[in-house]
Amino acid sequence: MALRLGDVAPNFKAQTTEGEIDFYEYLGNSWGILFSHPADYTPVCTTELGRTALLKEEFAKRNVKVLAVSVDPLDKHLGWRNDINETQNCHVDFPIIADENREVATLYDMIHPNANATQTVRSLFVIGPDKTIKLMITYPASTGRNFFEVLRVVDSLQLTSKHSVSTPADWKQGEDVIVGTTISTEDALKKFPKGVKVVKPYLRYTPVPDEK
Ligand code: BEZ
Repeated sequence: MALRLGDVAPNFKAQTTEGEIDFYEYLGNSWGILFSHPADYTPVCTTELGRTALLKEEFAKRNVKVLAVSVDPLDKHLGWRNDINETQNCHVDFPIIADENREVATLYDMIHPNANATQTVRSLFVIGPDKTIKLMITYPASTGRNFFEVLRVVDSLQLTSKHSVSTPADWKQGEDVIVGTTISTEDALKKFPKGVKVVKPYLRYTPVPDEK
């Protein structure tokens, strides 16, 4: 059955460019991003993995470990990784899973037969430290993902997991957030000492709360 938000992310063991891994062991207590690409030695995928490598510090700051996956074999991944490093001026050191027998692709429903019978689509899962799925996005082969958007969602997920707030459309780190609808304005004023701006009784903003 297809996975949904809130489901436990299935564990697996896999061969990768960084050796054999157990997914849960690799993640430890970190957040995780598991993303599939259709095939090695293809242009859009080359830029996506390059961008991910270039954002290494951003993922590390957020305590996020990344893994890529496609159904190509390990030797192909290793050769292609050299091309990614050369053309994107980066150093890919996150695991690229060699999912030749489609175990991971099947577990995570990454092959959409009406789009392509054999290759994985561009699926991306954000997994929380509790191993549940926090975000799922699916892009077609022709469209590279926006990894700044992925970081933005991780920022929102991490903030909203700690405080009773949500983030508005196009929110970016540092901008005001929305007070949870279950909190009365009276309680919100106590809970959010930086202040609460009431636009409507159901639409109230507060500056990003300090770390707990
Ligand atoms: C690409 O990464 O460029 C790509 C992969 C599969 C189909 C189309 C494009």
